[in-house]
Amino acid sequence: MYVLGIESTCDETACAVVKDGKEILSNVIASQHDIHSLYGGVFPELACRRHVDVILPTVQKALQDAGLSASDIDLISVAKGPGLIGALTIGLNFAKGLSMSWKKPFVGVNHVEAHLYGAMMANQSYLFPAIGAVISGGHTFLVKINSIGSYEKIGSTVDDAIGEAFDKVASMLGLPYPGGPKLEKLASNVSSSPHSFSQAKVKGRPWDFSFSGLKTNVLYTIDGRSLTEKEKAEIAYSFQETACKEIVRKTVLAAKEWNVKAIYLGGGVSNNIFLREMFTKQELQVPVFWPSRDLSLDNGAMIAGLGYHVFQKDGPHLLSVEPMTRIPLC
Ligand code: KG4
Ligand code: ZN
Repeated sequence: MYVLGIESTCDETACAVVKDGKEILSNVIASQHDIHSLYGGVFPELACRRHVDVILPTVQKALQDAGLSASDIDLISVAKGPGLIGALTIGLNFAKGLSMSWKKPFVGVNHVEAHLYGAMMANQSYLFPAIGAVISGGHTFLVKINSIGSYEKIGSTVDDAIGEAFDKVASMLGLPYPGGPKLEKLASNVSSSPHSFSQAKVKGRPWDFSFSGLKTNVLYTIDGRSLTEKEKAEIAYSFQETACKEIVRKTVLAAKEWNVKAIYLGGGVSNNIFLREMFTKQELQVPVFWPSRDLSLDNGAMIAGLGYHVFQKDGPHLLSVEPMTRIPLC
């Protein structure tokens, strides 16, 4: 089954063709970082306009790269949320239009669920139950995965998502949006730091995350001073170490507590090499699965891949599906 996946939840317009939920035939990502870096974050109205401009050529390129034409496609899968309302509306309506004109079935899938599926795509079989951690610019949460489509909530952030904290701290250090990968690069210039930031705990909710206090810690440490490159790198290092430690600690603890067979990580921050290395240093009884680099940031392949499974379970969705800025996973 050839599935065309469309992603437009935030600031990437992306489209991919995936065969039978696994084999990626094309994966085209049109990033909008050039526009948003001027504003230090995503400018929703400009994101919408760019989606409108590039969605058709992105879909055409995905078909071309896959060596297929519209008549070969068996299903259209689109991210129906969570995300920015205007951005979602463009991708969703475009997918509905294709479904009508090509006379192909359509499904609307959950973008954050697709991030977890991104870590599963490369493997022939799945190991369930598992712990899933979504660590992206918009979300940070832990779930128990019973099967694809069946999740139990463990904990989530009560304030900033981890990627958002990376971006805000990066901005304090003078790095342009999106700052996460740039902060990682800056931190790699040092191997230790004199700073020790404390990680906030959420009272009475041991599985929840909080990153806003850590961000404030960094702000007070900078204290309006102009910093040398070495000082900036040390602050970046300590921030990254503290934030990543919290993800590793809770994910590993959850894997033990729920006695699972694997850990799956998804979302943009799963790209972070420092974090990946921290996981490899743990004495873990279970494997940790990561998405490949082009599957960790927002992409159409994870939407097409998950869409295949959603279609097997639900059949086609109605074209009355509405965009949803928030969708609980469980
Ligand atoms: O999953 P994603 O592409 O979009 C959302 O669904 O939010 O994640 C984007 C986030 C941004 O905050 C970006 O700074 C962060 O992922 N990110 C990173 C790295 N690469 C991307 N954060 C830390 N280290 C990285 N290498
Ligand atoms: Zn995402």
